[in-house]
Amino acid sequence: MRKLQNIMVTGGCGFIGSNFIHYLFEDTGFDGRVINVDKLTYAGNPANLVRIEQKYGGTRYFFERVDIVDFDALDAVFDKYDIDTVIHFAAESHVDRSIHGPKAFIRTNVLGTFNLLEQARKRWRPGDGRHFHHISTDEVYGSAEPGDYFYETTAYSPRSPYSASKAAADHLVRSYANTYGLSTTVTIASNNYGPYQFPEKLLPLMINNMLEEKPLPVYGDGMNVRDWLYVGDHCSAVWMVAVHGKSGQTYNAGGENEWTNIELVQRLCGIMEAKTGKTPGHYKRLITFVKDRPGHDRRYALNCDKIKKQIGWKQSVDFEEGLDKTVDWYLNNRQWVENVKTGEYREWIRKNYSI
Ligand code: NAD
Ligand code: TYD
Repeated sequence: MRKLQNIMVTGGCGFIGSNFIHYLFEDTGFDGRVINVDKLTYAGNPANLVRIEQKYGGTRYFFERVDIVDFDALDAVFDKYDIDTVIHFAAESHVDRSIHGPKAFIRTNVLGTFNLLEQARKRWRPGDGRHFHHISTDEVYGSAEPGDYFYETTAYSPRSPYSASKAAADHLVRSYANTYGLSTTVTIASNNYGPYQFPEKLLPLMINNMLEEKPLPVYGDGMNVRDWLYVGDHCSAVWMVAVHGKSGQTYNAGGENEWTNIELVQRLCGIMEAKTGKTPGHYKRLITFVKDRPGHDRRYALNCDKIKKQIGWKQSVDFEEGLDKTVDWYLNNRQWVENVKTGEYREWIRKNYSI
């Protein structure tokens, strides 16, 4: 068991990173410091962490607006806080964006990860208790045939610029354990859903379009399958592996909860119709099949036996409860969505960080 104290969380203003920081302070016995390193790209929103900033800002929570590609800026942060742990979420994360502009993905996901590893290698020594945990995605394994599952031993076969950049980062992390004896772990998660997800991703995009009575764009025939994991369960997997995982190892953490996109969107329509008092079918009529994403992976499916047996992790939120909580969050936080959509949150960042 590792005692992690001065934790650098990269990408802490994004969807999963901000949920993780809440989880760490509010749901674990963690008593150390979190240094949130985030560039604040379009996906980074400091408003996600207002509660943490108010309670722990300046004592146990610190924000550093740093691009992980900037080696010197990272150097200063590692020194300033005597970082003993990196929990690395920062990434360009949206497949559709990677198709239109892959360069940013190579820059942040590959070069940024390399820089963090180099910073750790420069300072840390094998056996000194310091640890690097990297967050990855099931998309690195490619597309699964019906009935097949991805194991930690499955050969990588990334098929989009996003997944290729994540695969490269995963290989780099493992190579640092093997070559330099750096203490590292990797978790590979399936599609996350929950509060604070940027409304370009499937679930928040659909919820938002329903509220605006806009078409619900389903790519291709809607039969692509994704495995959905509640973000809180992803956070517990990351923390448990960072603390208990064996160095050099990778652990799959999925929802074991597969749905075709069309089934999921229809289910979401039903929940939204019930919650907003609309007649059954009201939102379903907005479903519109649109041109497919190029190279669209058909199915992702993780086998999670290893993390369950070796770490003792399991999912705690079932899909019905998770969807219910997620829809409620978006209905109760319309202002957050508005600020994100209108760019109001960028104004706030410009004022506070002079950019
Ligand atoms: P996100 O896009 O919501 O957030 C990414 C965060 O990283 C943002 O705050 C952004 O400002 C920051 N960032 C981007 N480039 C940066 C840079 N160069 N320097 C510093 N900060 C930078 O992403 P997410 O959905 O929260 O995903 C987090 C991690 O989890 C990623 O590594 C992603 O690959 C992985 N993952 C995501 C999912 C999912 O379903 N969302 C599933 C599995 C794995
Ligand atoms: P997304 O949330 O972009 O995650 P990922 O591509 O990383 O799995 O998309 C989830 C699934 O939903 C994916 O199969 C693509 C599909 N999708 C749509 O059908 N319509 C949309 O508007 C979006 C954003 C995604």
